[in-house]
Amino acid sequence: MNAIVLLGAPGAGKGTAAERIRTETDYKHISTGDMLREAVKAHTPVGTQAEAYMKRGELVPDSIMVCLVEERLSRGVASDKYMFDGFPRTIEQAKLLDAVLGKLNAKVDYVFYLDAPRELLLSRLTGRRICRSCGANYHVVNIPPKKAGVCDACGGELYQRSDDTEATIGTRLEVFKEQTKSLIEYYSQRGVLVRVDAAQHRDLTLKEILGRLKSAG
Ligand code: AP5
Repeated sequence: MNAIVLLGAPGAGKGTAAERIRTETDYKHISTGDMLREAVKAHTPVGTQAEAYMKRGELVPDSIMVCLVEERLSRGVASDKYMFDGFPRTIEQAKLLDAVLGKLNAKVDYVFYLDAPRELLLSRLTGRRICRSCGANYHVVNIPPKKAGVCDACGGELYQRSDDTEATIGTRLEVFKEQTKSLIEYYSQRGVLVRVDAAQHRDLTLKEILGRLKSAG
């Protein structure tokens, strides 16, 4: 089992890059944000506990996150390759991820840090729209659908995430600075951090990541 991590502030483009890496490689995409939103929608015990934190733009407690990820990995097989999007988000989560992967004889090979300036993050998040049916991701200016409010792929309705309001985005960016940014140093010291310019066109961001993965074999 191999693992890579996409690390970056809200709006850096982790989900956008992950979706395209998934289609071009055999990495399985694990987005803890998507897993939590599904749990909230299904009213599971985890969803009920997580909902209030997510609405405020705060991190869901580490204990919940680790159980969620451990359960997901337990369904895999030894040859699986995983791409984590939005996890880990704290040093504690990173240590617990190492422990879980260690039990499976695996480790984090690369951490791609998607770096973009704050104004860009704000405009990306306020303009993001998602398809209610197939989950396709749009942006009202950068990646607009052909018809406003309608998904090009399936004709589904496009909606705005409830945590994409300016107030909640402000909290999420603060939380990233205070609780997640320390992971850059953590992974840099371990020699697995790769900084990627996430302000450029998404094709170029993807090219940088795929180039690194291919050169590693
Ligand atoms: P999560 O769902 O992980 O959200 P996030 O980290 O805030 O990241 P986003 O999904 O908002 O941004 P993204 O980087 O994926 O950007 P995207 O590709 O969509 O987490 C949500 C909440 O869940 C958290 O606040 C927390 O409460 C909880 N949670 C999740 N994981 C947790 C954990 N491990 N521990 C504790 N709590 C956790 O792009 C954004 C927009 O920009 C899109 O419209 C896209 O089309 C556009 N775009 C992207 N790239 C480009 C580009 N290169 N050029 C132009 N436009 C672009």
